[in-house]
Order: sequence, then structure tokens, then C-alpha cells
Amino acid sequence: MLMFPKPHLPPLASDPKPPVHWRIGEHVAVIGTTGTGKTYLISKLVDFRENVVILRTKPDDIEFEGFREFRTAKCMEDWRNNRLLIRPKYEHQPSVVYEVLENVWKMGRWTVVVDEFFYVQRLGMMRSLERLLTQGRSKRISLVLGMQRPVQVTRFALSEISHLMAFRVEGRDLRTLKDSTHPDIFEPTKSLQKYQFMHYHVASKSTRIGTAQTLQQVLKRLPETLDDVMDIPQDSAIVIDEPRLLGIQRRRF
Ligand SMILES: Nc1ncnc2c1ncn2[C@@H]1O[C@H](COP(=O)(O)OP(=O)(O)OP(=O)(O)O)[C@@H](O)[C@H]1O
Ligand SMILES: [Mg+2]
Repeated sequence: MLMFPKPHLPPLASDPKPPVHWRIGEHVAVIGTTGTGKTYLISKLVDFRENVVILRTKPDDIEFEGFREFRTAKCMEDWRNNRLLIRPKYEHQPSVVYEVLENVWKMGRWTVVVDEFFYVQRLGMMRSLERLLTQGRSKRISLVLGMQRPVQVTRFALSEISHLMAFRVEGRDLRTLKDSTHPDIFEPTKSLQKYQFMHYHVASKSTRIGTAQTLQQVLKRLPETLDDVMDIPQDSAIVIDEPRLLGIQRRRF
């Protein structure tokens, strides 16, 4: 058995905090009023994942590199498609979004981006979303939820989030965020500059400030196979009972 104990040296005051893992099955909320940079940040977040489906319900100028665009959920049946952008016709939004969320649940291992959580919630998808939020982790499903105003979405959704990324928000929205996360986010979130976000990591109760350009200093990824075999709390001693497991090949679904 190999053991790597956690180092106990205190960090130097001038050291920036090291990035935290965004682990498979952990959900992220990206919060900010219109034009603050949510979709742009999400376009960088998806680089951290292998199997991603993006639900687009409104037009904008953000490019998702390497993603193929489709109108329906059928594209998910082809296992070679692992970077999908699904933009249903307006009149088909409820049925296509429902089908995408059902497929994600059945197949597992997807990261699902819901750019406008409030809107999709209002399409009647709350039950499907709740199931993914509460039980998705065991199936290696992560949700990335974009939202303009936290007061519009259920508290429940925020309570299931592992990473909160908030651009500058004020007033009642900021109070809602503070109440559903941690009082420490209050001051830094008020003084954020343009395109800056505050990241709050629920497991360690720690905050970081970043931009889409410096995302690597806020979040890091574990290789997915490693994440599978190391389902242990972050920051605890790393114990590897079966080093050979580290060599296993990643299976899709
Ligand atoms: N970090 C950044 N650096 C440079 N430009 C940025 C950055 N973030 C966003 N932008 C630019 O700002 C504009 C608005 O960004 P974006 O569309 O991501 O905002 P949004 O929060 O998703 O808005 P909405 O709620 O209306 O969808 C875009 O043109 C985008 O290219
Ligand atoms: Mg947007």
C-alpha cells in the first residue's frame, strides 16, 4: 500500500491558493447578470471534460470549439459524438430538452451544460433536473448551470452545487447566494471587476477569484480514470490500495 500524507506546512501568506479539483459528478453554478461572461466562462469550463452536451436555448456570439451542433437528441445515440451542442427549434424545446436529460440519466458519464437554468426549469424540466442534481453523481453526471438571478431558481438547486462561480451580483441575489453558501463570499463578490468571478468551493469552504483566462489557477481536472478509482474526499491523505487500478482504461458508459 502506498501512502502520501497530506503536507502540514502552512502556506506562505503571499502564495495564491492552489486550484481545486472539479471532480466527475460535481455540479457547478455559473451566476451573473446579462453580459457578465457566463457563457464565455462555460466555453472554457467544458475543456475540462471529455463527454459534454450543451443545451442552447438562446442565441449569442460565444463559440464552443470542437462541438458539433444538432437540433434533436438523436445525436447522443452515436457513441462517437462526445462534444454536442443541441439547439432545438423553439417549438420543439420542451420535448428535445426532456429527451436529452433522459438520455443523460440513462447513459451516465455526461457533463450537461444548461446555459439558462431558469428558462429550462420553466419548460417543465424541474423533475428531470432534480434527479440529475441529487442522484447524478453516482452515475458520473455533472451539471453546469448558468443563471442570471439566484432568487429565480430554487434554493434546492444551489444546495446541490459543489462549485459556485459568481460574477458581480448585488442586493437580494447576493444575499441569496450568501445564505445558501457561506458568509465569506459576501465581501469579495461585491468588489469584483469586469469579467472576474468569485469561485466558492463548497467542500473546503474556500474562495478564489479568477477570470475565464485564468481558469486553470482556480480549477484543475483529475484524469477521469484516476477520479473513478479515487472517490475520496479532497485534501485527505491519498491512499492507493491497488496501484494497478491506476492503469485501467477508461470505459465509455
Ligand atoms: N473573460 C472575458 N474576456 C474577454 N471577453 C469576455 C470575457 N467574458 C465575456 N466576454 C465577452 O463579453 C460578452 C458577453 O459575454 P457572455 O455572452 O458570456 O455573457 P453572459 O453572461 O452569458 O450573458 P447573457 O446572460 O446575456 O447570456 C461576449 O461578447 C464575450 O465575448
Ligand atoms: Mg450567456
